[in-house]
Amino acid sequence: MKRQQQSIEDGARLLREGGLVLFPTETVYGLGADAGNNRACLRIFEAKERPPDNPLIVHIADIEQLAGVCEGAPPDSALRALELFSPGPITVVVAHNGSICPAATTGLPTVAVRIPSHPVARSLLAAAAIPVAAPSANRSGRPSPTSYAMAVEAMEGRADLILDGGTCEVGLESTILDCTGTPNRILRPGGVTREMLLDAGFHLALPEEGDQGGEDHYRAPGSRYQHYRPKAAVRLAESREREGVERFLAAEGVASVLVLGLREQIEPLSSLLSLAPAVAEVQRFESLEEFGRSIYDSFFRADRRGLRSVLAILPEGVGVGVAIRDRLARAGTRL
Ligand code: TXA
Ligand code: MG
Repeated sequence: MKRQQQSIEDGARLLREGGLVLFPTETVYGLGADAGNNRACLRIFEAKERPPDNPLIVHIADIEQLAGVCEGAPPDSALRALELFSPGPITVVVAHNGSICPAATTGLPTVAVRIPSHPVARSLLAAAAIPVAAPSANRSGRPSPTSYAMAVEAMEGRADLILDGGTCEVGLESTILDCTGTPNRILRPGGVTREMLLDAGFHLALPEEGDQGGEDHYRAPGSRYQHYRPKAAVRLAESREREGVERFLAAEGVASVLVLGLREQIEPLSSLLSLAPAVAEVQRFESLEEFGRSIYDSFFRADRRGLRSVLAILPEGVGVGVAIRDRLARAGTRL
């Protein structure tokens, strides 16, 4: 406990001095720097090999800090979203007041802000007492780290300090809600779902064509880029595509495929999977939450085992299923 306290204080000092600190959040691990320090934020882009026009998310310790980065009074929708769902996996986009450096915003007049709930992130932000820009701590295009081991593999030697916070509870990046206009718009689906926002009375722009399938219609600037790909090829199928699955497995090498999906959707394919020599392992998830939490870890696992491909059976596009479909669609291709 004492050691952890010490490393959090070291992390806070490093952040204030312009260093890069990799820290856990409840969604994924983030690579953090002082959001007001342009030079420090540029180092994030270098370490991640991130395209220079993909802005960073700014992390704050509490809702009071929002007023310090917003231009004028924060929009009601942003305050309400943070009040209802923070600390937690929601990010609000608001106009900024110039206190966030241009490297972090990539020169946009808006900034994406969130309050993470992971205790290590909370202690670090409170101790640093500055807004911290932190994208997911993966190399660009690769899966986001959701455990300390994945974070170390992605960024060892590139961050000044890596804080250990165990396994991330949500495992998918935060929901991004554009609060700069009405209606609000979900720019990236995540753990706070469309249904949760609608139930709370938010007016949301209609999802665009293809949103349910996650076919790349979300508008966060980062969504243009290919994301989340492991070395293994990721292939996607609906549970009903039995013939396609059979054909795909017949063409793969012995013990070369990791299959994953919800238990209820894998069940109808069970006899097929148990007979196919190509199947190295089947991961059956009991809930959408468990599926979401495990996606990047499963990619990591497939690569560590040197498997040729991952076959994901898609969940329905409701609740967290929308975010899962979105990430899988970016990582792979349909059968
Ligand atoms: O859960 C998360 O949000 C994680 C953890 C570390 O907090 N962070 C994260 O950051 O996912 P990153 O960089 O991987 O994704 C940031 C996303 C990008 O798609 C980016 O385009 C979008 O946020 N974004 C940042 N600033 C924005 C802005 N002003 N307007 C719209 N989208 C913005
Ligand atoms: Mg990312």
